[in-house]
Amino acid sequence: MKIFLDTASLTEIREGAALGVVDGVTTNPTLLAKESGDPEEILLEICRTVDGPISAEVVATDAEGMVREGRHWAGLHKNIVVKCPCTAEGLKATKILSGEGRRVNMTLIFSPTQALLAAKAGARFVSPFVGRLDDISTPGMELVADILQIFENYDFDCEVLAASLRHPMHVVEAAKMGAHIGTMPYSVFAGLLKHPLTDIGLKRFLDDWEKAKKEMGAKASR
Ligand code: G3P
Repeated sequence: MKIFLDTASLTEIREGAALGVVDGVTTNPTLLAKESGDPEEILLEICRTVDGPISAEVVATDAEGMVREGRHWAGLHKNIVVKCPCTAEGLKATKILSGEGRRVNMTLIFSPTQALLAAKAGARFVSPFVGRLDDISTPGMELVADILQIFENYDFDCEVLAASLRHPMHVVEAAKMGAHIGTMPYSVFAGLLKHPLTDIGLKRFLDDWEKAKKEMGAKASR
């Protein structure tokens, strides 16, 4: 499963990218609004830091405006993927942008039928929001499973990008299902690696090694 960071923080993106396992980045207007600086500059710096798909979302709500913004975003850097919301206007815009060869990530997907329509419109990625469904007592992971099953029946050139992942178990479940991509906040990403037994085990190895070295030194000086 490809791992994307769901953040516009350059500090987090640089730290994540340094580990060598980050395949892309998803941003949205909320995430970009949290950062200080020009959003275009931030997106360009993200593109220079991670050589993979970098989602930049349109804020227009009509198809014409989405297409205009999408062309602008896509023209900034080869890595940029245009993010369009899964509305009727978003679908029209996706059809046009994908027809021009621009990659679209259709976002705010909450049902299998939305994902099916997005793929038919030529979206390169669909983003089901797992955590936000969980928030309303609806199992978000079942949506990911449904979309994967539907896509198995056809040959859409569309990857399932499990989004709104809130904790490492969401990532485990998405990977077990075979989601193509999981996007997550930096805190969740960091949680994928951390294990107290690793830290305890490493400390014991190093302490034992130091002890053995001291004993060898003591023997040699006798
Ligand atoms: O990738 C979508 C994400 O930004 C939404 O996450 O946690 O706000 O539902 P969340």
